[in-house]
Amino acid sequence: MTFRIAPSILSADFARLGEEVRNVLAAGADVVHFDVMDNHYVPNLTVGPMVCEAVRPHAVKDGRPAPIDVHLMVRPVDRIVPDFAKAGADIISFHPEASDHVDRTLGLIRECGCKAGLVLNPATPLHHLDHVMDRLDLILIMSVNPGYGGQKFIAQALAKLRAVRERIDAHRAGGGQEIWLEVDGGVKVDNIRAIGAAGADTFVAGSAIFGPGDYAAKIAAMRAELAAV
Ligand code: DX5
Ligand code: ZN
Repeated sequence: MTFRIAPSILSADFARLGEEVRNVLAAGADVVHFDVMDNHYVPNLTVGPMVCEAVRPHAVKDGRPAPIDVHLMVRPVDRIVPDFAKAGADIISFHPEASDHVDRTLGLIRECGCKAGLVLNPATPLHHLDHVMDRLDLILIMSVNPGYGGQKFIAQALAKLRAVRERIDAHRAGGGQEIWLEVDGGVKVDNIRAIGAAGADTFVAGSAIFGPGDYAAKIAAMRAELAAV
Protein backbone atom coordinates (compact mmCIF):
# COMPACT_ATOMS: atom_id res chain seq x y z
CA MET A 1 0.00 0.00 0.00
CA THR A 2 1.26 3.48 -0.92
CA PHE A 3 0.47 6.00 1.81
CA ARG A 4 0.26 9.68 0.89
CA ILE A 5 0.42 12.62 3.31
CA ALA A 6 -1.66 15.60 2.17
CA PRO A 7 -1.21 18.69 4.38
CA SER A 8 -4.22 21.01 4.35
CA ILE A 9 -3.32 24.61 3.57
CA LEU A 10 -6.18 25.67 5.85
CA SER A 11 -3.77 25.58 8.79
CA ALA A 12 -0.85 27.15 6.91
CA ASP A 13 0.20 30.78 7.32
CA PHE A 14 -1.80 32.38 4.49
CA ALA A 15 0.53 35.38 4.47
CA ARG A 16 3.38 33.04 3.45
CA LEU A 17 1.42 30.42 1.52
CA GLY A 18 3.94 29.71 -1.25
CA GLU A 19 6.75 29.24 1.24
CA GLU A 20 4.58 27.03 3.45
CA VAL A 21 3.72 24.80 0.47
CA ARG A 22 7.38 24.52 -0.57
CA ASN A 23 8.45 23.77 3.00
CA VAL A 24 5.86 21.10 3.66
CA LEU A 25 6.67 19.27 0.40
CA ALA A 26 10.40 19.49 1.15
CA ALA A 27 9.56 18.04 4.57
CA GLY A 28 8.16 14.89 2.95
CA ALA A 29 4.52 15.61 2.12
CA ASP A 30 3.15 14.13 -1.13
CA VAL A 31 0.04 16.13 -2.00
CA VAL A 32 -1.15 19.71 -1.35
CA HIS A 33 -4.72 19.63 0.03
CA PHE A 34 -6.41 22.89 -0.99
CA ASP A 35 -9.59 23.62 0.99
CA VAL A 36 -12.10 25.85 -0.79
CA MET A 37 -14.96 27.19 1.38
CA ASP A 38 -17.72 29.55 0.28
CA ASN A 39 -19.57 30.77 3.42
CA HIS A 40 -22.66 29.12 1.92
CA TYR A 41 -22.23 25.37 1.65
CA VAL A 42 -19.97 25.61 4.73
CA PRO A 43 -19.80 28.42 7.29
CA ASN A 44 -16.33 29.64 6.41
CA LEU A 45 -14.60 31.42 3.55
CA THR A 46 -11.15 30.60 2.22
CA VAL A 47 -9.53 30.86 -1.19
CA GLY A 48 -10.34 30.38 -4.86
CA PRO A 49 -8.75 29.67 -8.24
CA MET A 50 -6.55 32.78 -8.20
CA VAL A 51 -4.78 31.58 -5.08
CA CYS A 52 -4.53 28.07 -6.52
CA GLU A 53 -2.83 29.53 -9.58
CA ALA A 54 -0.44 31.50 -7.36
CA VAL A 55 0.41 28.37 -5.34
CA ARG A 56 0.88 26.13 -8.42
CA PRO A 57 4.57 27.03 -9.08
CA HIS A 58 5.40 26.41 -5.41
CA ALA A 59 3.87 22.92 -5.37
CA VAL A 60 7.05 21.13 -6.41
CA LYS A 61 8.60 18.03 -4.89
CA ASP A 62 12.03 16.74 -5.94
CA GLY A 63 11.94 19.08 -8.94
CA ARG A 64 8.59 17.78 -10.21
CA PRO A 65 5.05 19.14 -9.81
CA ALA A 66 3.27 17.74 -6.76
CA PRO A 67 -0.49 17.18 -7.04
CA ILE A 68 -2.82 19.93 -5.86
CA ASP A 69 -5.89 18.26 -4.39
CA VAL A 70 -8.73 20.80 -4.48
CA HIS A 71 -11.47 20.03 -1.94
CA LEU A 72 -14.50 22.06 -2.98
CA MET A 73 -16.85 22.95 -0.13
CA VAL A 74 -18.92 25.21 -2.36
CA ARG A 75 -22.39 25.31 -3.91
CA PRO A 76 -22.93 25.37 -6.84
CA VAL A 77 -19.98 23.25 -7.96
CA ASP A 78 -19.93 23.21 -11.78
CA ARG A 79 -19.40 26.95 -12.37
CA ILE A 80 -16.04 26.93 -10.61
CA VAL A 81 -14.63 23.57 -11.85
CA PRO A 82 -13.05 24.83 -15.13
CA ASP A 83 -11.48 27.76 -13.26
CA PHE A 84 -9.68 25.41 -10.88
CA ALA A 85 -8.60 23.17 -13.76
CA LYS A 86 -7.07 26.21 -15.48
CA ALA A 87 -5.48 27.25 -12.20
CA GLY A 88 -3.50 24.00 -12.08
CA ALA A 89 -5.59 21.70 -9.91
CA ASP A 90 -4.78 18.00 -10.39
CA ILE A 91 -7.64 16.53 -8.38
CA ILE A 92 -11.01 18.20 -7.80
CA SER A 93 -13.44 16.73 -5.29
CA PHE A 94 -16.87 17.90 -4.21
CA HIS A 95 -19.76 16.99 -1.91
CA PRO A 96 -22.75 15.25 -3.57
CA GLU A 97 -25.16 17.46 -1.59
CA ALA A 98 -23.64 20.51 -3.29
CA SER A 99 -24.28 19.35 -6.88
CA ASP A 100 -27.70 18.86 -8.47
CA HIS A 101 -26.21 16.41 -11.00
CA VAL A 102 -23.39 14.41 -9.47
CA ASP A 103 -22.67 12.30 -12.55
CA ARG A 104 -22.49 15.40 -14.73
CA THR A 105 -20.12 17.15 -12.32
CA LEU A 106 -17.83 14.10 -12.20
CA GLY A 107 -17.78 14.05 -16.00
CA LEU A 108 -17.07 17.79 -16.15
CA ILE A 109 -14.06 17.46 -13.83
CA ARG A 110 -12.54 14.73 -16.01
CA GLU A 111 -13.36 16.63 -19.22
CA CYS A 112 -11.35 19.50 -17.76
CA GLY A 113 -8.38 17.14 -17.47
CA CYS A 114 -8.47 16.61 -13.70
CA LYS A 115 -8.99 13.59 -11.49
CA ALA A 116 -12.43 13.51 -9.90
CA GLY A 117 -13.37 12.87 -6.30
CA LEU A 118 -16.53 12.58 -4.25
CA VAL A 119 -16.53 13.69 -0.60
CA LEU A 120 -18.81 12.09 1.98
CA ASN A 121 -19.64 14.01 5.17
CA PRO A 122 -19.95 12.12 8.47
CA ALA A 123 -23.73 11.67 7.99
CA THR A 124 -23.68 11.13 4.21
CA PRO A 125 -24.52 7.53 3.27
CA LEU A 126 -22.31 5.39 1.05
CA HIS A 127 -25.07 4.81 -1.49
CA HIS A 128 -23.90 7.99 -3.22
CA LEU A 129 -21.06 5.82 -4.55
CA ASP A 130 -23.37 3.17 -6.02
CA HIS A 131 -23.59 4.23 -9.64
CA VAL A 132 -20.43 6.28 -10.06
CA MET A 133 -17.52 4.05 -9.05
CA ASP A 134 -16.17 4.05 -12.62
CA ARG A 135 -16.26 7.88 -12.64
CA LEU A 136 -14.12 8.30 -9.50
CA ASP A 137 -10.39 8.71 -8.96
CA LEU A 138 -10.74 9.53 -5.30
CA ILE A 139 -13.21 9.03 -2.47
CA LEU A 140 -12.78 11.38 0.48
CA ILE A 141 -14.27 10.39 3.81
CA MET A 142 -14.80 13.37 6.10
CA SER A 143 -13.91 12.56 9.70
CA VAL A 144 -15.14 15.99 10.86
CA ASN A 145 -17.98 18.18 9.65
CA PRO A 146 -16.50 20.43 6.98
CA GLY A 147 -15.81 24.09 7.62
CA TYR A 148 -12.94 24.35 10.06
CA GLY A 149 -9.52 22.94 10.81
CA GLY A 150 -8.56 21.69 14.25
CA GLN A 151 -11.68 19.63 15.01
CA LYS A 152 -11.77 16.26 16.75
CA PHE A 153 -11.72 13.04 14.67
CA ILE A 154 -15.17 11.39 14.58
CA ALA A 155 -14.52 7.72 15.33
CA GLN A 156 -17.41 6.43 13.19
CA ALA A 157 -15.30 7.37 10.18
CA LEU A 158 -13.23 4.21 10.78
CA ALA A 159 -16.15 1.88 10.03
CA LYS A 160 -17.00 3.96 6.99
CA LEU A 161 -13.42 3.73 5.72
CA ARG A 162 -13.47 -0.05 6.14
CA ALA A 163 -16.71 -0.26 4.14
CA VAL A 164 -15.38 1.97 1.35
CA ARG A 165 -12.10 0.05 1.26
CA GLU A 166 -14.15 -3.12 0.62
CA ARG A 167 -16.01 -1.39 -2.22
CA ILE A 168 -12.79 -0.13 -3.81
CA ASP A 169 -11.08 -3.52 -3.52
CA ALA A 170 -14.11 -5.25 -5.09
CA HIS A 171 -14.14 -2.64 -7.87
CA ARG A 172 -10.43 -3.21 -8.54
CA ALA A 173 -10.86 -6.99 -8.46
CA GLY A 174 -13.54 -6.60 -11.13
CA GLY A 175 -11.11 -4.77 -13.40
CA GLY A 176 -11.96 -1.24 -12.26
CA GLN A 177 -9.59 1.72 -12.19
CA GLU A 178 -7.49 2.85 -9.25
CA ILE A 179 -9.33 4.95 -6.64
CA TRP A 180 -7.57 6.73 -3.80
CA LEU A 181 -9.23 6.54 -0.38
CA GLU A 182 -8.62 9.82 1.42
CA VAL A 183 -9.54 10.86 4.96
CA ASP A 184 -9.91 14.45 6.15
CA GLY A 185 -10.30 15.90 9.62
CA GLY A 186 -8.65 15.37 12.98
CA VAL A 187 -5.87 13.15 11.63
CA LYS A 188 -2.93 13.13 14.09
CA VAL A 189 0.16 11.05 14.83
CA ASP A 190 -1.73 9.21 17.57
CA ASN A 191 -4.64 8.02 15.37
CA ILE A 192 -3.14 7.74 11.89
CA ARG A 193 -2.17 4.09 12.33
CA ALA A 194 -5.76 3.06 13.13
CA ILE A 195 -7.01 5.15 10.20
CA GLY A 196 -4.53 3.46 7.86
CA ALA A 197 -5.54 0.05 9.20
CA ALA A 198 -9.16 0.95 8.35
CA GLY A 199 -8.16 1.32 4.71
CA ALA A 200 -7.24 4.95 4.02
CA ASP A 201 -4.25 5.54 1.75
CA THR A 202 -4.23 9.36 1.60
CA PHE A 203 -4.21 11.39 4.81
CA VAL A 204 -5.17 15.05 5.01
CA ALA A 205 -3.69 16.76 8.06
CA GLY A 206 -3.84 20.49 8.70
CA SER A 207 -3.36 21.44 12.33
CA ALA A 208 -1.21 18.35 13.00
CA ILE A 209 1.42 19.54 10.51
CA PHE A 210 1.31 23.32 10.00
CA GLY A 211 2.09 25.73 12.81
CA PRO A 212 5.06 25.76 15.19
CA GLY A 213 7.46 22.83 15.10
CA ASP A 214 9.41 20.85 12.55
CA TYR A 215 7.25 19.76 9.58
CA ALA A 216 9.70 17.00 8.63
CA ALA A 217 9.63 15.54 12.14
CA LYS A 218 5.82 15.61 12.25
CA ILE A 219 5.49 13.94 8.83
CA ALA A 220 8.18 11.37 9.72
CA ALA A 221 6.27 10.51 12.92
CA MET A 222 3.12 9.91 10.83
CA ARG A 223 5.03 7.72 8.38
CA ALA A 224 6.55 5.71 11.23
CA GLU A 225 3.03 4.98 12.51
CA LEU A 226 1.88 4.03 9.01
CA ALA A 227 4.82 1.66 8.61
CA ALA A 228 3.22 -0.41 11.40
CA VAL A 229 -0.10 -0.84 9.51
C1 DX5 B 1 -12.23 20.73 7.02
C2 DX5 B 1 -11.19 20.67 5.94
C3 DX5 B 1 -9.96 19.96 6.35
C4 DX5 B 1 -9.24 20.60 7.51
C5 DX5 B 1 -8.45 19.56 8.22
O1 DX5 B 1 -13.42 21.25 6.48
O2 DX5 B 1 -11.69 20.02 4.80
O3 DX5 B 1 -9.08 19.73 5.26
O4 DX5 B 1 -8.41 21.63 7.13
O5 DX5 B 1 -7.84 20.16 9.32
P1 DX5 B 1 -7.37 19.31 10.57
O6 DX5 B 1 -6.34 18.33 10.11
O7 DX5 B 1 -6.81 20.35 11.48
O8 DX5 B 1 -8.59 18.63 11.15
ZN1 ZN C 1 -10.33 19.29 3.20
